[in-house]
Amino acid sequence: MGACSVSLGACALDNTQVDYGPLDGPGLRETPPRSGLLYGAAVEASQLGEDAALAGAVARECAILVPEGALKWRALRPASDRFDFRGGDAIVRFASLHGQRVRGHTLVRHQALPDWFAASAGSGNASSLLAAHIETVCGHYAGQLQAWDVVNEVVDPRAAHGLRETPWWRLLGAGYIGTAFRTARAADPAAVLFLNDYGLEADGHAADAKRGLVLTLLRRLLDAGVPVQGLGLQSHLVVGDRFDSLIGFLEQVRGLGLRVAVTELDVSDVPVPGQPVSARDAAVATTYATFLQKVLAVPGLVREVLTWGLTDATTWLRSYRPRPDGLPTRPLPLDEALARKPAWAAIRTSLARADARYMIPSPRKQA
Ligand code: G3I
Repeated sequence: MGACSVSLGACALDNTQVDYGPLDGPGLRETPPRSGLLYGAAVEASQLGEDAALAGAVARECAILVPEGALKWRALRPASDRFDFRGGDAIVRFASLHGQRVRGHTLVRHQALPDWFAASAGSGNASSLLAAHIETVCGHYAGQLQAWDVVNEVVDPRAAHGLRETPWWRLLGAGYIGTAFRTARAADPAAVLFLNDYGLEADGHAADAKRGLVLTLLRRLLDAGVPVQGLGLQSHLVVGDRFDSLIGFLEQVRGLGLRVAVTELDVSDVPVPGQPVSARDAAVATTYATFLQKVLAVPGLVREVLTWGLTDATTWLRSYRPRPDGLPTRPLPLDEALARKPAWAAIRTSLARADARYMIPSPRKQA
């Protein structure tokens, strides 16, 4: 992990001197101007409503938003017979005001279920509960969201059958995944429907196993006519991750006729010593650049890159994966004061390069 010259935005990447460029200029939403590649971030409605400076940064930097929590069951379903769309609606309104698109996250997940769920859901009503939820939520936002993470985090290499044994799996069996996609398709014919999972990006046996399971699941769904259209790579990365296996995997996903989105990108700085902060920021930036170079290598495949939050102040990693030394982790493109970091410059440079690559027409085969 080499120290990089942060003030110049320059950093060593794979033994090549890479200049990430200055930290001024237009926001990341302006960076890929020609190819339709979008940068965005996860946001909470309360943050946008209460923090005008943060809202300004989100408006400036993001072409696409995703609600970090507002569209999860726990937020949407205060009671089994009630929906609360206030958080999601506020984000959709903000996006519309600022010419931004919105991804929906997430219709089916094993976490963030409301407290009433365990006592109320059983094998007799789980099917109708799931269908009614998806019909109501997708119906409410139909035509307003560019995509939905329909099912989240469903593969598990520890299970003999390869699927996570979630409450939905226990109540409905593996068929709930196909049902969720079909119900979402019927309720919102326009949104692009994704399976979204983590641990698929870096090299190593654990990720190899997960990549294999995801490909098997996607093939099985497609063979059964399930309307899955894309794979979301959550991309919760750690400094030092390598991504040499990624392109082969992406080619296989493309071979299935699917698109790919980077849905929850961030880079944990836990492996880097706490001081100086500049060395941590440079290492994080280098991991962003290394990853984006690989994930955007297949022209046109990835069209959205979203970080899981825009500023270090709001990252989930501070509470879920804190640094052992107690220092606040710095995984995102802006710091707590909304100042751009080397990660921001790495994202901008990577998007600009991909933009140019995405615009190059593929060479015609000679007759
Ligand atoms: O809103 C309540 C608040 O009323 C209460 O006082 C407080 C007390 O703990 O909790 C608040 O809820 C928290 C919620 O985030 C909103 O901030 C929950 O405790 C907390 O568990 C929840 O964590 C979220 C987590 O998903 C669980 O749903 C994280 O913010 C969010 O970043 C994380 O996101 C997930 C993606 O959905 C899927 N991929 C992994 C990613 C990271 O875990």
